[in-house]
Amino acid sequence: MHDDTVHKVLVTGATGFIGRALRPALLARGLGVRATTRHLGRAPRQGGEEWVEADLLRPETLGPALEGMDAAYYLVHSMGRGGEDYREQERRCAESFASEAARAGLERIVYLGGVAPRGTPSHHLESRLAVGERLRAGPVPTVELRASMIIGPGSTSWRICRDLALRLPAMVLPTWMRSRTSPIALEDVVRALTDALEVPLKHGEWFDLPGPEVLSGREILERIAAQRGLRPLMVRLPVLTPRLSSLWLKLVTSADYAVARELVAGLTQDLLPRDARYFELTHHPPRIPFDEAARRTLAAEAAQPAHRRGFAARAEHWVERLGPHLQRA
Ligand SMILES: NC(=O)c1ccc[n+]([C@@H]2O[C@H](COP(=O)([O-])OP(=O)(O)OC[C@H]3O[C@@H](n4cnc5c(N)ncnc54)[C@H](OP(=O)(O)O)[C@@H]3O)[C@@H](O)[C@H]2O)c1
Repeated sequence: MHDDTVHKVLVTGATGFIGRALRPALLARGLGVRATTRHLGRAPRQGGEEWVEADLLRPETLGPALEGMDAAYYLVHSMGRGGEDYREQERRCAESFASEAARAGLERIVYLGGVAPRGTPSHHLESRLAVGERLRAGPVPTVELRASMIIGPGSTSWRICRDLALRLPAMVLPTWMRSRTSPIALEDVVRALTDALEVPLKHGEWFDLPGPEVLSGREILERIAAQRGLRPLMVRLPVLTPRLSSLWLKLVTSADYAVARELVAGLTQDLLPRDARYFELTHHPPRIPFDEAARRTLAAEAAQPAHRRGFAARAEHWVERLGPHLQRA
């Protein structure tokens, strides 16, 4: 990887939140990009990448996708698909990807997963970590990067927080809002992912990707609301269980409910990255502070008003208009 032999990279999950931001960054580095989707008809037409159809649940589709590639990004997840067997499916996907990548002679796999909590992980996080283990145990040297909340337009965890912060003038806070995490800007994640093609590696290794600050759920909501000059009233309610509060999220946020439910289940404890050694190793520039990342994301969303449809979005409009007056009254 250090002898300039990486010319072609495969991006799985290329239509997703991370994949969409990563593709242009790889092209900008002069790399040839092949992107995968299960629905070729929905692949974007513009952009300099090649699109192929591949489904990790159908290993026979992986050989042709991986052929001729030097490295691959694994950005696929089945979160929100429901059913107890999705964890088993994710393990199978990771195992077949690892062996097909070896068969195709790849030099490196880069996987973006989730941060390991100190306590017992939720089903979703446990599955993300198991995918990383399977890929790192395979024959192709693998870099696993672990992030908690990623701030950028289209991120589900961001969308939940911004909808809560901006759509409700007052809210009850479940206890899990006290859990702390270290949100990181999408731009920093994209840079970390592109650097992962170059990072010196013995075999399989994982690194955490902490943002520059540690914030509780409540602080995250307050900081987002402050971007719009709002100060929602927040009342702690210990009886609001993660299950009940994810039902409540269904009313307020435009985020996919099944995904939101799994994210909330992962937030019942702190999700704190261990260290920032990856950023030292890759000479990463200073990471973007939370407020600046939130500001940029709100500006990018405002330029794409599609998310402003529906009852909850109209409520946001009125909270935005009336909130500062109500708070002053
Ligand atoms: N979003 C975050 O805040 C966040 C935070 C920490 C870590 N991560 C990690 O980042 C990675 C990417 O997440 P994301 O938020 O970008 O996901 P996303 O927006 O939900 O996109 C998921 C992608 O997976 C693809 N996919 C799903 N099942 C597939 C299958 N069986 N075979 C092939 N492709 C399949 C989908 O492609 P098609 O539908 O086009 O086939 C889609 O592009 C995940 O590993 C996630 O754990 C994300």
